[in-house]
Parts: sequence; C-alpha cells; structure tokens
Amino acid sequence: MILETPRLRLMPLGPEHAVALWNVYSDPLVARYVGGDSLTPDTTREQTERWARTWTDHGYGQSAVILRSTGAFLGRIGLSIWPDWNETELGYALLRSSQGQGLAQEGCRAWIDWAATNLPDDHLIAVINPLNTPSLRLAARLGFTPSRHETVNDIEVTVHRLNLPR
Ligand SMILES: CC(C)(COP(=O)(O)OP(=O)(O)OC[C@H]1O[C@@H](n2cnc3c(N)ncnc32)[C@H](O)[C@@H]1OP(=O)(O)O)[C@@H](O)C(=O)NCCC(=O)NCCS
Repeated sequence: MILETPRLRLMPLGPEHAVALWNVYSDPLVARYVGGDSLTPDTTREQTERWARTWTDHGYGQSAVILRSTGAFLGRIGLSIWPDWNETELGYALLRSSQGQGLAQEGCRAWIDWAATNLPDDHLIAVINPLNTPSLRLAARLGFTPSRHETVNDIEVTVHRLNLPR
C-alpha cells in the first residue's frame, strides 16, 4: 500500500531499505530516542524484517519515506503494533537534513488519514521520551495529547494519544 502526499511517497518498508535506514540511524542525534546504541546495521536489518512481516500479516506497517522530486530515501514513518498494550503507534524518524521542513508532519498526516478510515482502533499512540522535544512538538502539532506514563526497556516514556476522527 502506497500513500502519496504533495512531496512524499510512503512505501512499505522492508529489508531492501535496511542499508538506507541504517544511513539514517547512523546519525547519533537521529538514533538517540529510537534505539540509540542498540541500532547497528544488523539490528536495523532485523527491524526491517519484522516490519515486513507486519505488512504481510496486517496490511500496514512502517513506510519508507521517499522524496518524490528526487527519489531519495529520507527515513521512516508508519504504524507499529504494541501487543502488550493492544495499541497501534505512529512512529517516525527522518534524516537530520530532511527535518525542519514539515516533511514528518506531512507523512504522519497521511498515515493518520489512512488509519481513520481503515484501522479498527479508535486511537493511535505515540510513545515518546519526555526529553525528545522535536518529537513532542510534532506529536502536539498532529493533535496527540499526553495520556499516561510507562517504562519501556527501563526508560520512562510518555504515551501520547490521538483519537481517530470517524
Ligand atoms: C521527530 C522528527 C521526525 C520531527 O521532525 P521535524 O522535521 O522537526 O517535524 P515537522 O515535520 O513537524 O517539521 C516541523 C518544522 O518544519 C518547519 N517547516 C518548514 N516548512 C514547513 C512546512 N511546509 N510545513 C510545516 N512545517 C514546516 C516548521 O516551522 C518546524 O520548524 P521548528 O521545529 O523549527 O518549529 C525528527 O526530529 C526526527 O526524525 N528525530 C529523530 C528520530 C526520533 O526521535 N523520532 C521520534 C521518536 S518518539
């Protein structure tokens, strides 16, 4: 399933994007709150394999973010399932050089629109380290509001919630 926005093409993310995604994660400022030191070329490939399975099993997942004007790979935006909470997260990570242009917002809105029509869930979550100011700002712009605190891998995070319009 491909989503298109004025500037972006969002395509199912899989192992074929592992090298390009590692290029995004190899910037410590990008990786800091999405896995940090646990991210390596190998764990990135494993991540892409897991997301490919999510696409196969559910028909949605993380998307490779492609800049339509050049075909460049900018990062990932899309949905991940948290089985323990029975909730679906909207997640995002872009190359630093692609930040500050409203591109994350544009891709996220396409996924929110898709979810509002196609996902059985009545809400999405965003799981954010309270120190991750850019992510907090993006979540707020998208309409997420802080909902509860959780501990994930020994790290305190805030779960933000967006009720999906019906
Ligand atoms: C979180 C992340 C995706 C946010 O990216 P971003 O580019 O700041 O987010 P947006 O798409 O909302 O862009 C907003 C910025 O673009 C600017 N902008 C420029 N042109 C714009 C346009 N046409 N439309 C909207 N905003 C525009 C806005 O003014 C804003 O700038 P500001 O942050 O200085 O106020 C990015 O910081 C990232 O990839 N971080 C690393 C990974 C990560 O931590 N992910 C989240 C884990 S919870």
